[in-house]
Amino acid sequence: MDVNLVDRILDAAPVMAVVVARDPAKAVGVARALAAAGNPLVEITLRTPAALQAIKAVAAEVPGALVGAGTILTPKDYEAAAHAGAVFGVSPGATPSLLKAAAAGPMPFLPGAATASELMLAMEYGFSRFKFFPAEQAGGAATLRSLAGPLPHVRFCPTGGIGPGNASQYWALRNVACVGGSWIAPAELIEAEAFDKITALAKDAAVIRAKVLQAARG
Ligand code: 3PG
Repeated sequence: MDVNLVDRILDAAPVMAVVVARDPAKAVGVARALAAAGNPLVEITLRTPAALQAIKAVAAEVPGALVGAGTILTPKDYEAAAHAGAVFGVSPGATPSLLKAAAAGPMPFLPGAATASELMLAMEYGFSRFKFFPAEQAGGAATLRSLAGPLPHVRFCPTGGIGPGNASQYWALRNVACVGGSWIAPAELIEAEAFDKITALAKDAAVIRAKVLQAARG
C-alpha cells in the first residue's frame, strides 16, 4: 500500500462525499457538482444494484473526480470495485481476509476501525490510514484525539453522524485528513437532480474547513 498515494487522495478535498447511487447518470451529476466546488472526493457505496455502473460512469465521464467505492465488505467487493475503475476503496470495518486481499491489491484501501485493537490488527497488514466509523457513536473527535497519543502516525477519515455542525471538531485534529459524510450530497437532492444545491453545500463545507485550518495555524 503506497501511503503517499492514499494521503494524496485523502488530502484532495475537505469531505469524502458518501453517495448512495441509484442511477449512474445522477451519480455523474453529483460528481461534477462536487468537483465544481473543488471537492473531487466521492465514495459511492456498494449498497445498490447501480453502484458499480455508477463508479464506472463517474470514472469515465468526470475527469476531475476521485471516485472510490464504499461499503467494501469482502475480497470480492474489493476486486469488483477495482475492476469498475474505483480509485480507492473504503470499508466500514475489516476482516483478516479483506485486509490480506486489499494489502496485495492494486487499489488504495481504507479499512474501517473504531478501536485501538482494530487499528493494530490492520496495521499488521501495513495499513495506517483508516475510516473511523461510526465516528460520532464511537466517541467522536475526543476518541480520535486520544488515539493520536499511542498511534501518532495513523490518519483518519472519520465518517458517521458528521455534518456542518460538528465537522470542525474533526477538521481541527492533526490526525484527520478529511471527513466523510452524506450531508453534502443527500439522497433527496440527488433524486431531484438539484446539483447546484450540492455544489453550494460543498462550497459551504470548504469555507468552514478553511476557517478551521486558518485558526489552527494561528
Ligand atoms: C456511511 O454510510 O458510510 C456513512 O456512515 C455515512 O454517514 P452519514 O450518513 O452519517 O454521513
